[in-house]
Amino acid sequence: MKRLEIKTLQKIYPNGVKAIDNISLEISNGMFGLLGPNGAGKSSLMKTIAGLQKPTSGTIHFNGVDIVKEPAFVKKSLGFLPQDFGVYPKVSAYNLLEHLAILKGVGNPRERKSQIINLLEKVNLLAVKNKEVYTFSGGMKQRFGVAQALLGNPQLIIVDEPTAGLDPEERNRFNMLLSSISEDVIVMLSTHLVEDVFNLCSKLAIIQQGTIRAIGKPSEMIASLKGKVWTKAIDHSELQAYRSNYKVISQHLVERVLHISVYANVQPSGFFPVTPTLELAYFQYLQ
Ligand SMILES: Nc1ncnc2c1ncn2[C@@H]1O[C@H](COP(=O)(O)OP(=O)(O)OP(=O)(O)O)[C@@H](O)[C@H]1O
Ligand SMILES: [Mg+2]
Repeated sequence: MKRLEIKTLQKIYPNGVKAIDNISLEISNGMFGLLGPNGAGKSSLMKTIAGLQKPTSGTIHFNGVDIVKEPAFVKKSLGFLPQDFGVYPKVSAYNLLEHLAILKGVGNPRERKSQIINLLEKVNLLAVKNKEVYTFSGGMKQRFGVAQALLGNPQLIIVDEPTAGLDPEERNRFNMLLSSISEDVIVMLSTHLVEDVFNLCSKLAIIQQGTIRAIGKPSEMIASLKGKVWTKAIDHSELQAYRSNYKVISQHLVERVLHISVYANVQPSGFFPVTPTLELAYFQYLQ
C-alpha cells in the first residue's frame, strides 16, 4: 500500500501570490483527482510534490519519507507529466526516452532497452519510435509524456491536466491508459474536466484559491446533493433576481433557453427536481 501525506502545505510565490493555502491531504493507491478551475493552485501543488519547487511551509511524506528533505527519493520513485512540457529537442522518441531513463537512474543498458520498448508498446507508440517527438500530434505527445513519466517504475505518478486539447477518442484512449497503470501505484490527476474525474477517480479533492473545498468519493459528493437541486427555465432578464433569492449553482442554455439549477432544502415553487451529478456537486462546492 502506497501513501502520500501532505500536511498544512503552503506555497507563497516571491510576488506574494499564495497559490497553496494550508492544504492537508492523504492519498493511497488508485487514482486521485484534483479538480479545480484555472488558477486554483493545481499545478503549484503538483510541482511542489514533484520537487520542482520548495513549499513555503508544511510537509510532504511518501511512504513515511520526507520528500521535501530527500529530493533523491522523489527523483527515483516519482513520475511527472507536467502541464506544459515545453519544447521537445529534435531527437527520436526512443532516444529521448533513453536520455530521460539515464537521468532517472535506469543504469543497466539491457534493462533500459526492455523498459523503453515495453513503455512504447504500452502507450501505442512503438511503430513511431524513430520519429522525432516534436512532429507528434497532441495526443501522441501526451502518450509519450506518460511513457517518460513511467520510466523507472515510479510508485507515485503525477499528471497535470493531461487530456486538455485532446479529441474525444484520443482522450478516451489516454484515460484508459491512465486507468490501467493506477492499480498498484498512486496516480494523481489534475483537471478541470469533471467527467474525467468521474470516470477515473475513486477519490477527489475540489480545489479553489489554493484551498480544498471538498474531499471524498465522487458518489459521496453526488449523494450529498440528493433532493437538494432544482431546475427551472427562466428568461435572461430574470437571472439577477433569481441570483439574489436563491443559491444558483449552475446556469446553462438548452437550445438557447436559459436553465438555472439552484440548491435548496425544499423544492421552490415552479422548479423541478434534478438528478444530482458530479458537475453540480463541483459547482456547489466552489465559492
Ligand atoms: N511561478 C509563479 N510565480 C507567481 N505566481 C504564480 C506562479 N505560478 C503560478 N502562480 C499563481 O498561482 C496561482 C495558482 O496557479 P496554478 O498554475 O497553480 O493554478 P492551476 O490550478 O494549475 O491553473 P490552470 O488550471 O490554469 O493550470 C495563480 O494565481 C497563478 O497566477
Ligand atoms: Mg495548471
